[in-house]
Amino acid sequence: MNGLPQPSGDPDAPPSRRIRLVLNGGEADELIEDRMLLVHALRDRFGLTGTHVGCNNGDCGACTVEIDGRIAKSCLVMAAAADGCSITTIEGLADPDGSLSPLQEAFWDQDAVQCGFCLPGHLFVARDLLDRERDPSEEQIRTALTGNICRCTGYTNIVEAIRVAAERARG
Ligand code: FES
Ligand code: FES
Repeated sequence: MNGLPQPSGDPDAPPSRRIRLVLNGGEADELIEDRMLLVHALRDRFGLTGTHVGCNNGDCGACTVEIDGRIAKSCLVMAAAADGCSITTIEGLADPDGSLSPLQEAFWDQDAVQCGFCLPGHLFVARDLLDRERDPSEEQIRTALTGNICRCTGYTNIVEAIRVAAERARG
């Protein structure tokens, strides 16, 4: 039945289906409406409200998650299209023992968060950059962040946090 439309018995109900995900390392499945965006399914069906909704059209990056190892803006992905994927949200970003990851610690130490709305997206983008670049320049960091908006405009500390995280990772 995975992925197939599920009859609800209500003739007025929108088409829906059950999707299965590997979500933050564990198996999960939920009934979603076919028209649902992944960001709304994550928040409203799977209860993972750490993924934020800002613009809903791909501009702000607040909804960034990792899908099958690649970062993606979950407001640009239909939930039905994610069926069978492995997804990491901000809830899955801490170390397995629940403590902050080194990247999160660097953001904490550098005060790289104000209201926190943009934080999940910035952490995913930073992690993606640091996976590719051990010693990113300021320009590379700022370029990586261009798809993620901080409405508190805390960019200086965010850039510094990523630089510090890279420095600590290099030892
Ligand atoms: S809510 Fe997805 S990019 Fe803004
Ligand atoms: S810390 Fe408020 S939006 Fe970035």
